[in-house]
Amino acid sequence: MTSPITVHPAPEAQGSPFVSTAKPPAPFTLVLFGSNGDLAGRKLFPALLRLFQGQHLPREFAIVGNGRRDLRDEDFRAAVRGSLAEFSAAESAGADPFLAHVFYQRADVTSAAGMQGLAQRVHALERERGLPGNRLFYLATDPEFFLPIVEGIAGAGLIRREEAPQWERVVIEKPFGFDLASALCLDHNLMRFLRPDQVYRIDHYLGKETVQNLLAFRFGNAIFEPLFTREHVDHVQITVAETVGMEGRRGAFYDHAGALRDVVQNHMLQLLALVAMDPPATLKAGDISDAKLKVFRNLAPLRGADVAGHVVRGQYGPGAIGGQPVPGYRAEEAVDRSSATETFVALRADIESWRWAGVPFFLRTGKRLPRRVTEIAVQFKLPPMRLFRTVECAGDFCDLSEAKPSVLVFRIQPDEGICLSFSAKRPGMQLDLHRVNFEFNYRDSFDVHLPEAYERLLLDALRGDGTLFTRSDEMEAAWEFVTPILDAWRDGPAPPFPNYDAGTWGPAEAGRLLEAFGGWRVPAGA
Ligand code: BG6
Repeated sequence: MTSPITVHPAPEAQGSPFVSTAKPPAPFTLVLFGSNGDLAGRKLFPALLRLFQGQHLPREFAIVGNGRRDLRDEDFRAAVRGSLAEFSAAESAGADPFLAHVFYQRADVTSAAGMQGLAQRVHALERERGLPGNRLFYLATDPEFFLPIVEGIAGAGLIRREEAPQWERVVIEKPFGFDLASALCLDHNLMRFLRPDQVYRIDHYLGKETVQNLLAFRFGNAIFEPLFTREHVDHVQITVAETVGMEGRRGAFYDHAGALRDVVQNHMLQLLALVAMDPPATLKAGDISDAKLKVFRNLAPLRGADVAGHVVRGQYGPGAIGGQPVPGYRAEEAVDRSSATETFVALRADIESWRWAGVPFFLRTGKRLPRRVTEIAVQFKLPPMRLFRTVECAGDFCDLSEAKPSVLVFRIQPDEGICLSFSAKRPGMQLDLHRVNFEFNYRDSFDVHLPEAYERLLLDALRGDGTLFTRSDEMEAAWEFVTPILDAWRDGPAPPFPNYDAGTWGPAEAGRLLEAFGGWRVPAGA
């Protein structure tokens, strides 16, 4: 049991929800490729509606959905209204003024004629609505269409490589490449049509409030940062655990990706970089990317035989989540019945830098784990002198119990906040140490709506702020770390899958990685 000590916010931290303090972006046209897909319905339209209702968008703008289905504007609006009712129920009742800005244009993105049709519609809307031609193209499609779309919009004159008074930008969803070679190839080909500053590679983890708060916590306070070094930190554990499996037709994508590509290469390595990086020179996008890049460059490569000792992969078999039986991965829709795709990865990463040498970073992620939780736990070293130890009761003296390592936990989701656990004396006649918590919880401390990651990132892309997007060299350095692991798996024997039951914390071998470090944490609330 731990006892919480709650941190209360200073009065100025209170604010009014949904009221923008920054200037809205200039009037724009947003062309959304993949507008009938899951991401658009679940995340992008709800985020745009909230931005609109929060007065973060300009008075004039147009959103043009694109897909292969032949729909009229009214049909598309009805479909968007349906998604909003499902995924943004509280805001959807007042969605009509927003939907008046939404249009649809069917186009085959691989045909020049299709892209010309799209261009004509965009030009016509911009004329009718007095829009200046600032354009954001959002690519929420299968990755095979990324390059054809960029080639198509460039061919149709919707985007230009040359500087112009209007801005023209492209947001590219993950996965950006399948391995290092394909990521480099995609990047190289995109640069035939775009300037580097026109490309916004999205990693939605960077838009999460709690992830941005890592920078605020580390570099906005003088008291914690000196502790983030090998002198004080024993090890770091980063967990991204999900209860979901392959709902819908998710398996069609996932079976070709797996957990290492889907979550480790991007979200988890970004979390690692933010918790491990040195202070950036400024908060400008380039300086933050430089600081993260340095971490990626210092990652000790895992190759060949190292992989077996440092990386554990797993795949779930049938089990139960929240008391409900769920099928094994190989029985999920659109998944190969003998699939060798990993749905769980645990690995040890070492950063060979002055600051972190000898401090392992343990990463684990998986589908169908017992709880949805993302957290970063920084475990500190024990005091150098073991003044407090457990002793047997003898005569008048007893119950002197041992100090436990202090742990600083960044709870990324859910129950967003930060918690520092440390040892304190339990009241009483004995010297008995007990773990207590300093707690900061967003919900209790700030009376404001916690924006969804996509709200922040869409707004930043519209404003031209690339700080929370992944620069190409960061993305490549992350692939450089991950690709040799994929190679070793491909060249090695077939894994003994399935090797964990749905509803458990992954294969038993994952524990082996942390044997000398006290094992994996059970995340708070589990
Ligand atoms: C996506 C992955 O990028 O992130 C999904 O493709 C995963 O497989 C998701 O479920 C997790 O995001 P969040 O925000 O729910 O933690």
